[in-house]
Amino acid sequence: MPETTHNHALPTLPPLTYRGAALYCEDANLADLAREYGTPLYIYSQARILQNVRQLQAAFAPANPLLCFSVKANNNRALLALLHAQGLGFDVVSGGELHCAMQAGAPAHNIAFAGVGKTDAELQQALQARVGWLNVETAEELERLEQFAASAGVLQQVVLRLNPAIDADTHHQIATGGANAKFGLLVAEARALAARPWPHLDLCGVHLHIGSQLRSPAATLAALDVALEFMRASLPSATVLDLGGGFPVAYQLEEEVPDINVFATPILRRLKEYGRPLRLLLEPGRCLLADAGALLVTVMAVRNRSAARTIIVDGGMNTLARPAIYGAHHELLPVRHTPATGPADVAGPICESTDYLARNRSLPALQRGDQLAICTTGAYGYSMASQYNAQPRPAEVLVAEASTRIIRRRETFADLE
Ligand SMILES: Cc1ncc(COP(=O)(O)O)c(C=O)c1O
Repeated sequence: MPETTHNHALPTLPPLTYRGAALYCEDANLADLAREYGTPLYIYSQARILQNVRQLQAAFAPANPLLCFSVKANNNRALLALLHAQGLGFDVVSGGELHCAMQAGAPAHNIAFAGVGKTDAELQQALQARVGWLNVETAEELERLEQFAASAGVLQQVVLRLNPAIDADTHHQIATGGANAKFGLLVAEARALAARPWPHLDLCGVHLHIGSQLRSPAATLAALDVALEFMRASLPSATVLDLGGGFPVAYQLEEEVPDINVFATPILRRLKEYGRPLRLLLEPGRCLLADAGALLVTVMAVRNRSAARTIIVDGGMNTLARPAIYGAHHELLPVRHTPATGPADVAGPICESTDYLARNRSLPALQRGDQLAICTTGAYGYSMASQYNAQPRPAEVLVAEASTRIIRRRETFADLE
């Protein structure tokens, strides 16, 4: 069928567009990518990543923040190197992520090391690397760190992660700031720690991260007020404020999420009112990478039963865990567009009854060999993939206009050993 017979304005999510009936990422045809690299396949649009970075930089420009990309969202070395080249630092939460960030060329002084349960080895690794900031979450972690810094004879910059006891307006499974959350120090705990001497630690600021995919700035602003008040009263020499991540992206067609300026404008106003200059760190993950990525899968079989049509594809909860873990919604786009014929569920190949990527979606009459693109999977996609059922992890490809290159090879059985 000639491509021009189809409507050019078929609805899609970035970075994908239909040209006629064929789905593209930038100038790369997804059917060609699937043929060349196989599926399941993660693809990323370089242009979209750079656009997302520029938007965030512009929104917070008056505070000249250091954007520390949250490596947990995506630890691909080529993508980290791309972000590093834009001047970004990194937020890491394990020795492994610190390794990934440094392998990508990041200087340690632009790295913040967070995480609720750091091992002795990780604390020592961070000290040895001379990371910019260690984000501490418990009293005993601070005590261990003081000992290790004393033995190493260094003075380490530390920011205290506050639990502001504020519930973020988001899915309960990605909220981190409630009083009973496992994350961070309650204000009273942080106050007691700030009052003690730490000869080898420079308690230079505060870290907040109240949740991801925040639907409004209200909770962030309330948490910021708690942090600024804590600094004013208990850490007056503080020079660093790490506001974490959490900025939202649209996962559904036509979904409206607050623009980044809705967060940035009142945050900048409060920082100005604080009166003292603060080094602002942000830890964006999702908002830089999610809508730059898509996952390509191929239909293995179609099961038509009177109750439901089930489309079984070659990537499942092992490849993209978010639908199974959080009930997350990702839009599905046929790689070759034909009109929808009715509802269908899309299931993966894993031997678990929860292994569904989507339920009850309006989809065309797909057949074995057809492909689907699963949208908005650039963050918390590959980084949450597993080898469950001894399934090797997929490949990743970076698209820049019409050029495409493998940025992580597909795993083989040798990687299962
Ligand atoms: C401490 C911390 N910083 C930053 C992030 C990144 O959040 P997001 O991807 O929502 O920007 C997370 C995500 O959970 C986090 O735990």
